[in-house]
Amino acid sequence: MRNVGSMSTVPVDDAAIAEARQLRDEFQRFLREYEFGMREVETKISILRDEFTHSHAYNPIEHVKSRLKTPDSIVEKVARKGIDPDFDSIRREITDIAGVRVTCSFVTDVYRLFELFTQQHDLTVRVVKDYIAAPKPNGYRSLHAIVEVPVFLSTGPVQVPVEVQFRTIAMDFWASLEHKIHYKFAGQVPTHLVQSLTEAADAAGELDLRMERLHREAHAVNRKVIEA
Ligand code: GTP
Ligand code: MG
Repeated sequence: MRNVGSMSTVPVDDAAIAEARQLRDEFQRFLREYEFGMREVETKISILRDEFTHSHAYNPIEHVKSRLKTPDSIVEKVARKGIDPDFDSIRREITDIAGVRVTCSFVTDVYRLFELFTQQHDLTVRVVKDYIAAPKPNGYRSLHAIVEVPVFLSTGPVQVPVEVQFRTIAMDFWASLEHKIHYKFAGQVPTHLVQSLTEAADAAGELDLRMERLHREAHAVNRKVIEA
């Protein structure tokens, strides 16, 4: 034990500081694996997009967004779910530390891309949740997969879980508004708003169907013009 600086009277424990530093380094190393996993998934998606665009003269992806959970948010989830606060438990229990969201124009593109992505041999698909076939009671729609992607480190390969969400623009529009409203009311959303949101989700689902129909029709007309 020693005092830092002549003005300070607070005792500082060197061993405690070293331990805190080691924990910080370990946490950074832990998070970096997820960042690498996320980058592997981003690359896979962008290769699919580019290859698809060249082969089919059509880009099925509107945009891709990735995010890494913040340390605060990880700690909050550990506390909320009663997870043991060690790296192995967190690794096992929290599978959305790395997240990639793929927004497509049409529902058929969502499924097509999902198939092309999840069929890749180096991926292990852990969980699939199809909230398009079976929307959540509030109307939430999206197709989720937790995949494990191999990341090759200097110390050897590690399997990193990444949550990948596939959705349409309409689903994304709805989810982002719902998220903001949920946040604004700290989870206590007034009943009439909850009901309006669910109706809006159904309207968005209807819009997706219509847009897809229009797209197909336009495509068919286009083909006839080309073939004539
Ligand atoms: P979490 O513990 O919150 O991650 O949920 P979960 O493990 O039950 O997984 P689920 O597949 O239901 O949700 C995972 C992610 O999907 C969330 O972190 C959100 O990004 C998104 N999500 C799921 N439900 C909703 C919803 O009702 N509204 C919005 N806006 N997003 C949702
Ligand atoms: Mg989550």
